[in-house]
Amino acid sequence: MFRALLLAPPGAGKGTQGERLAERHGVPHLATGDLLREHVANGTDLGVAAKEHMDAGGLVPDDLVISMVTEALGGRTPIQNFLLDGFPRTLAQAKGAYEWGRKKNRTFDVVIMLDVPEDELVRRLVERGQASGRSDDTEDVIRNRLHVYEENTAPLIEFYDERGILVRIDGLGTVDEVTERIEKGIAPFVSDD
Ligand code: AP5
Ligand code: MG
Repeated sequence: MFRALLLAPPGAGKGTQGERLAERHGVPHLATGDLLREHVANGTDLGVAAKEHMDAGGLVPDDLVISMVTEALGGRTPIQNFLLDGFPRTLAQAKGAYEWGRKKNRTFDVVIMLDVPEDELVRRLVERGQASGRSDDTEDVIRNRLHVYEENTAPLIEFYDERGILVRIDGLGTVDEVTERIEKGIAPFVSDD
């Protein structure tokens, strides 16, 4: 039983930690940003619809994202355990995911919130932007992503805290230190079999 969600602002380390945790626990790492960037690169209908929102640092419409994720999890061989990165990102997505999870007996076990101060988030993303070529890693788009996170995604912290499955982790320090903090924090909520 390992159904976890990484809920954190841009640059907090969702991708970095998500990859490690998924590998350690033998579950798929489903990052909606990565899936959407693949759609953009392949020029699919979803990619065409998503691109302008992503380039501006805004959100791709809820219905498109919810169907992309539920299709990924519920395909022919349904995925029982998973690490989600970057979804849900709005209350509508969280409610959609909860309804889906209740129907399929696959609600989240734990939500990992990575806490990193804003100046460090901007520093990390500007630095990555110089090397990665990600179209949304420019300073003005980074600021908008942070604003969109505060407006739309931060309210989910309370939503999951009320359900008793939120774990807050200090996201500053080395990547290894943060991974160890996460492992300790989630241990009471998950198991690997
Ligand atoms: P997404 O790809 O999810 O981007 P994001 O949330 O902006 O976050 P990032 O991927 O930039 O950061 P991260 O937290 O993964 O950090 P990382 O590990 O890379 O989404 C992109 C766009 O897609 C959205 O803006 C939206 O348009 C759309 N989208 C996606 N999901 C959606 C949804 N559900 N609904 C609607 N729209 C959606 O680390 C960042 C940098 O810091 C890296 O260079 C890394 O090496 C470095 N780093 C990591 N850890 C540390 C550390 N401990 N110390 C120092 N540096 C570190
Ligand atoms: Mg990421």
